[in-house]
Amino acid sequence: PVLSALELGGVKIARDDVVRDDPTNNVPDSIFSKLGMQLHKRNQHPIGILKNAIYEYFDANYSNKFDKFDDLCPLVSVKQNFDDVLVPADHISRSYNDTYYVDSQTVLRCHTSAHQAELLRDGHTHFLVTGDVYRRDSIDSTHYPVFHQVFVASHYLQPPNFFFLGFFLRFWSIHSYTLLLEMQMEGFRVFSPEEWEASGLDGTSYAAGDLKKCLEGLARHLFGAVEMRWIDAYFPFTNPSFELEIYFQEKWMEVLGCGVTEQEILRNNGQLDSVAWAFGLGLERLAMVLFDIPDIRLFWSNDERFTSQVQLIDNFTNKKGMTSHCYRIAYRSMECSLTDEEINELQRKVREQVETKLNVELR
Ligand code: PHE
Repeated sequence: PVLSALELGGVKIARDDVVRDDPTNNVPDSIFSKLGMQLHKRNQHPIGILKNAIYEYFDANYSNKFDKFDDLCPLVSVKQNFDDVLVPADHISRSYNDTYYVDSQTVLRCHTSAHQAELLRDGHTHFLVTGDVYRRDSIDSTHYPVFHQVFVASHYLQPPNFFFLGFFLRFWSIHSYTLLLEMQMEGFRVFSPEEWEASGLDGTSYAAGDLKKCLEGLARHLFGAVEMRWIDAYFPFTNPSFELEIYFQEKWMEVLGCGVTEQEILRNNGQLDSVAWAFGLGLERLAMVLFDIPDIRLFWSNDERFTSQVQLIDNFTNKKGMTSHCYRIAYRSMECSLTDEEINELQRKVREQVETKLNVELR
């Protein structure tokens, strides 16, 4: 049975408004039924776990500078999804073959970049947007018409060392209190091409380097060591553009697109001359690598042995202030039933890792 209505990000959505027998509509019930699932908001689900790990990286390395949006409605206008991010009128991604249209002016977002322009207009300069995205595609082990994407954008990049230069130049003439205020404001101002030049770099090459550094750091945070490579790419909204690929199951797999944000987008949305980068990362494919999940369809499983494999079942602190946790882990293979010996071996490895990595005492 398909729900007749749901509420998303404060927007009420009726099934009959999204699934209609009408030539401007190509949304089937099977897709409508995915709209309210929000796997990225389930902390026990692999998609939620990965999203939280990405947020952790940004909070830790950028001292909570990034605003987070998890609940933006996936029904967006054609303008938001395409025009605002400069997708050309004849671009193939606009076709009814590739995108789900609710009517001629409304689509199910095909990327979380659809929210970039409105967030800029609302004055956000550093943000993470996570959500379900929709693309008409045939289904196989690494493709599914619904998946989850984290979009990240960082604006107002500053020339490296500018801070210290500015500090010393002004040191003699300005009272230290004013100086402090000024230092805080540096993060939110635009640097002129001359200032960039004085730093020995142009804004675009600096942004490309800063972006790659950020993403390589993220990959290390998530994977430790992993084989990865950068590929030159094309996106209408960034220039230059790149894709990051990760080696998985004996092939290179694309996991994200990124680049230096086109000035036209910044200009159109009130951020004249800001230097910015952005990326869009597909959560399913990364989670497949990270958790060794062999098939993308498994993310939609309702089987609790998949959706919550580890559960904290007891949490106790004794008089000395030592806390003990008891976890239940469901071991399960997609290929065969596991034997006791196989599970014991897995359990032994988990205990060993927990002991060394988390520095805890095992019981
Ligand atoms: N929107 C692109 C996609 O879905 C990813 C991307 C985001 C690329 C931001 C560049 C900058 O494939």
